[in-house]
Amino acid sequence: MKEAVREYWESHPNAVNLGTGLIQGSKEFFEAIERHRYTAEPCLQEMAQFPRWREKRVLEIGCGIGTDLRQFSRDGAMVVGLDLTVEGVRMARKGFAVFGLSGDFVVADAEALPFVSDAFDLIYSNGVIHHTPDITAAVSEIHRVVKVGGESLIMVYHRNSYFALVVVQALLIPGIRILLWLFPRGILPRWLRLPMGIKNIYRITFEKGFSQETIFAASTDLSTPGDGNSNPLSHAYSRRDAARMFSAFTSCKSYVRQLYHLKFLPPLLRNWIERRAGWFLFVRAVK
Ligand SMILES: C[S@@+](CC[C@H](N)C(=O)[O-])C[C@H]1O[C@@H](n2cnc3c(N)ncnc32)[C@H](O)[C@@H]1O
Repeated sequence: MKEAVREYWESHPNAVNLGTGLIQGSKEFFEAIERHRYTAEPCLQEMAQFPRWREKRVLEIGCGIGTDLRQFSRDGAMVVGLDLTVEGVRMARKGFAVFGLSGDFVVADAEALPFVSDAFDLIYSNGVIHHTPDITAAVSEIHRVVKVGGESLIMVYHRNSYFALVVVQALLIPGIRILLWLFPRGILPRWLRLPMGIKNIYRITFEKGFSQETIFAASTDLSTPGDGNSNPLSHAYSRRDAARMFSAFTSCKSYVRQLYHLKFLPPLLRNWIERRAGWFLFVRAVK
């Protein structure tokens, strides 16, 4: 499974599609991705508190193309970016070079971090360890390499969210089951107008076999049918799961954020829903 995870992210570095039409690796390319990220997901800045880590040692696990890591570096932190993929690290390095920032990078596995114990003031990880086969090993490594009194800020998908419960469980899973029952040969009729994402998930479940795990994983990234083109693994966690997973830390708080939809609602109501049923579960744990 680890190899399938690595292969998938090697050929799908996160958010690269948001720079489509721009020269990959150019300043404009990285700026477009950055603009989109902090407009669509403002909770990242709120949670990461980039300026707070000035002159501190920060490790980002699963840095991908390095968008958040650049913010830590710009704000004066001494940063290390780690990713399972050669391509993620190559692009993160490129982004740092383009903006004249300094940082160290390593291709490695979150489940076996190549650092001595008590090495970092902050371990940051956004949307990563829910894709690794052994999340318990990853959390135990995070606990080992963060300093005593240091912090970890880890975002994983939220199980009790509108996305997991309504979009995936209530709509997508039964919908795909019905499509496979109506059209068991893996071909949808042309007259059936469905969003491309749903057509892709139908094809993926046709190829891999129907399972809730396959549908959930494919729905959490831009998966397309064909060899190695669909996200092989995603998990989601509740706040209680998070408290259990991070119980070795001295203290642990969790925060729920991120609603991509419901923009028409009054802000107060939208905030209320976001803080209970948002898609991102941030865990802030102190060792
Ligand atoms: C959804 S992307 C998020 C990337 C980045 N954190 C961001 O916010 O753009 C998931 C990343 O996790 C990395 N990843 C998955 N499993 C990993 C592991 N076991 N160790 C290190 N990185 C891993 C992937 O290579 C990929 O870059």
